[in-house]
Amino acid sequence: MTPPALELRPLPEQPRAEQRALLALRNEPEVRHNMYDGDLIEPATHERWLDGIAANRRADYHLVYLDDTLIGMVAFTNIDQTHKRADWAFYITGILQGRGIGTALERSALDYAFGPLGLNKLNCEVIDWNEAVIALHKRFGFLEEGRRRAHVWRDGEYHDAVLLGLTRQDWAARQRT
Ligand SMILES: CC(C)(COP(=O)(O)OP(=O)(O)OC[C@H]1O[C@@H](n2cnc3c(N)ncnc32)[C@H](O)[C@@H]1OP(=O)(O)O)[C@@H](O)C(=O)NCCC(=O)NCCS
Repeated sequence: MTPPALELRPLPEQPRAEQRALLALRNEPEVRHNMYDGDLIEPATHERWLDGIAANRRADYHLVYLDDTLIGMVAFTNIDQTHKRADWAFYITGILQGRGIGTALERSALDYAFGPLGLNKLNCEVIDWNEAVIALHKRFGFLEEGRRRAHVWRDGEYHDAVLLGLTRQDWAARQRT
């Protein structure tokens, strides 16, 4: 099957209206539920978040488009130029989840991280209930490096965060197979 044609566009360079459109995705239950802060986001909070991203030289956010329609976001944060490492997270709109788009998006994100972004190591944290995503990352070679115990308070209980990491070497080895 042909992989979906996804396009990553740098968030701060997009028109503000397009940046604002991301709020609807951020507030979708299917997206919010899997973020550390699962609360609804107010428009004013979203505006401040956008301003913060534009001013943050250690962050690199991309809007994700499918056939010119905004469908998601990929974020690289805590970018460290000395150690060539960063954290990352991603999501797509709920109606398109579970159709292989996330897999294609992860491939694009890793190509970008170890290509133009020039990283040596990519880290991420996933809430323990999100087993499909943990499995997805592992299929791309991410290794589980530990857990932050009782890291997230949600619906009356604490949950662990699973720490995953992928080195450039691991990624490059997979390109050759
Ligand atoms: C993470 C995300 C981008 C993955 O995108 P996606 O398009 O749903 O992923 P895919 O369709 O490529 O599926 C990847 C795997 O997850 C599984 N999966 C996807 N959605 C699932 C769901 N709701 N329940 C169970 N499994 C699911 C798929 O079966 C697939 O596994 P397989 O290859 O063994 O069949 C998307 O699900 C999402 O935005 N989730 C909410 C935010 C989030 O959790 N982000 C990650 C933490 S930062």
